[in-house]
Amino acid sequence: MPVMRMPAKAVAGNLGATFGLNAGPENVLLTPGSQAGLYTALSAIVEQGDDVILADPEYLSSERMLHYLGARVTRVPLLRDPTGLARLDFAALEAAMKCGPALLSNPNNPTGGIHGEETIRTIAKLAQRYDVLVLVDQLYCRLLYGGTMFHHLAAVEGMEDRTVTLLGPSKTESLSGYRVGVAVAPAHLVNRMENVFSISALRAPAYAQHILPRWLATQTTSQTTSPSASTSTTTCATSRFADSPRRS
Ligand SMILES: Cc1ncc(COP(=O)(O)O)c(C=O)c1O
Repeated sequence: MPVMRMPAKAVAGNLGATFGLNAGPENVLLTPGSQAGLYTALSAIVEQGDDVILADPEYLSSERMLHYLGARVTRVPLLRDPTGLARLDFAALEAAMKCGPALLSNPNNPTGGIHGEETIRTIAKLAQRYDVLVLVDQLYCRLLYGGTMFHHLAAVEGMEDRTVTLLGPSKTESLSGYRVGVAVAPAHLVNRMENVFSISALRAPAYAQHILPRWLATQTTSQTTSPSASTSTTTCATSRFADSPRRS
């Protein structure tokens, strides 16, 4: 295996153990920050004039990228459910998903809201019904408090091949200066993203790639939140998906 694929292999293994995301090295692209992963994924997926769904509010850069790529943005209101979790307006979401892919951050930037299980399952159901992709920017997905459960869209049955998940250590390990991020996607999309990448950034920095084999491998030491918070996060994330179907 080429030396530069080794971090991708390690990351893929760690994603399975920590998040229940079933990925091999062919599903992983290491990027200079998750920002580059987001732009690379959107460039590989979105064509001029395409309709793309964004939560409202949503990470400012997402809309800027979509405008730059010539996409038409449909906003779906972000609401709060009775338990305090984030949820989307399902009627607006269904109307919009008939027309194209969706992009959301989870936890949401700027509100910090975490999408609950009902929202994640509804997005999964609609994505399959209307045969569209969903991009989930999960940069903050280990900054959870009070035992809140996190639901990975890509781990829901039928979503592995329809989800692009963006992750990275910029927030949870305060490593934004390292400029490294991880995009997890179906292999055919990773290939398209590689094509974009080959004319933009080429690679994530080697020094940054080489911190990644240990990233997520030791959950308690890799968290910047308190040890008790990180332990409960790990437990929730892994126990929730213990029964999820896995790709063999
Ligand atoms: C939701 C979200 N996605 C992506 C980024 C980009 O992060 P980085 O490129 O450092 O991984 C940020 C940075 O603030 C963010 O808030």
